Amino acid sequence: MSEWLACAQCSKSFPVTEVRYECDCGGLLSVERDAMPAGPSAFDERRSKRSGIDASGVWRFREGVLDLGLMKPISHPEGDTRLYERFGIHFKHEGENPTGSFKDRGMTVAVTQAVRLGARAVACASTGNTSASLAAYAAQAGLQAVVFIPAGKVSAGKLSQTLAYGATCLEVRGDFDAAMRLVREASSRLGIYLVNSINPFRIEGQKTIVWELLQDLAWTAPDWIVVPAGNLGNTGAFGKALREAQAAGWIRKMPRLAAIQAAGANPFYQSYRERFASRFRVSAETIATAIRIGDPVSHDRAIAAIRSTNGVVEQVTDEEIMAAKREIDAAGIGCEPASATTWAGVKKLRDAGVMREPETTVCVLTGHILKDTEAAVRSAAGRTVVIEPTLAAVEAALA
Ligand code: F0G
Repeated sequence: MSEWLACAQCSKSFPVTEVRYECDCGGLLSVERDAMPAGPSAFDERRSKRSGIDASGVWRFREGVLDLGLMKPISHPEGDTRLYERFGIHFKHEGENPTGSFKDRGMTVAVTQAVRLGARAVACASTGNTSASLAAYAAQAGLQAVVFIPAGKVSAGKLSQTLAYGATCLEVRGDFDAAMRLVREASSRLGIYLVNSINPFRIEGQKTIVWELLQDLAWTAPDWIVVPAGNLGNTGAFGKALREAQAAGWIRKMPRLAAIQAAGANPFYQSYRERFASRFRVSAETIATAIRIGDPVSHDRAIAAIRSTNGVVEQVTDEEIMAAKREIDAAGIGCEPASATTWAGVKKLRDAGVMREPETTVCVLTGHILKDTEAAVRSAAGRTVVIEPTLAAVEAALA
């Protein structure tokens, strides 16, 4: 099997061993291969394995992710997350990954590629989850991790996690988009390997969220897959995963993608409303800090994802996000605010008649409830009461 990097805009291609994230024409790159693995039955057999490479929900699909040759991947392992059924739909909980978010799926591939290329240091800009994931995988690989985060805009949980794994945090005075611009410049000037989702190997790993949820559903495609949309790496990855799954014959029907943005960080939604005639950049503000992004780098990949799946883009307000989060939390699952855009989006798209019951719908919950404890407490259905250590005080509190 052979793999190469292909530009989505012009016909140029490059070897996978070259350190590059963009084409000379400025187009984003994707990893392409001359053959896809034959059928999903081999994946089903691997899923029963308890150890080794097959125990990873990413590397179980390795022939469609990265040709490793004799190399062993830098794997925790990751993936193999649960699919919950609540409110008549499914929730694929990617917060059950080793560092608490879906980022681990892309990171295992990008850090494996970093080692393969001989990198000594890896970097990313992040709203907190990518940085935590990068720090963990870099620690495992023995690489130096440098993360660029918007100062004061990353939850305490994510920041402490990133530091605990041993990364150097550069808190940039500015928003995520400023941190993103800076890390791109710094990594090319300082020879540090960049692992934001602009990196095509991240996308290859994130495809397995979709492949694994199809596997969870016994390879019967759902009607809808719903995903939060920030920097748009995941939206782009989901489109690629679905196109490849259908081309390889793993599914017959093409599910529709619904990408949901926060109303205060909605450049992709605005572009969608104009049938993608223009690209928007906004100054982003939302309670869902994970997707507080105004100039998403994977814009073009995400357009391809929406077009090829007859998908839709919706926006939801912070109030709608927190109401949806309260319901997901109170159902005993829980997620961070960005993930709750999915359920908020489903409710909105149902009201608009775009989605109908009883369609099969899978919302992807991208991050764990404990990623943002401030938000969890703020929207909590439960309450806390400080009492004296007496039975009378207990009775009074419960009355
Ligand atoms: N949900 C969570 C929990 C996230 O952390 C992110 C992105 C998204 C959704 C959006 O995914 O960017 O692929 O559209 N977090 C990045 C980070 C930006 O740095 O952790 P996307």
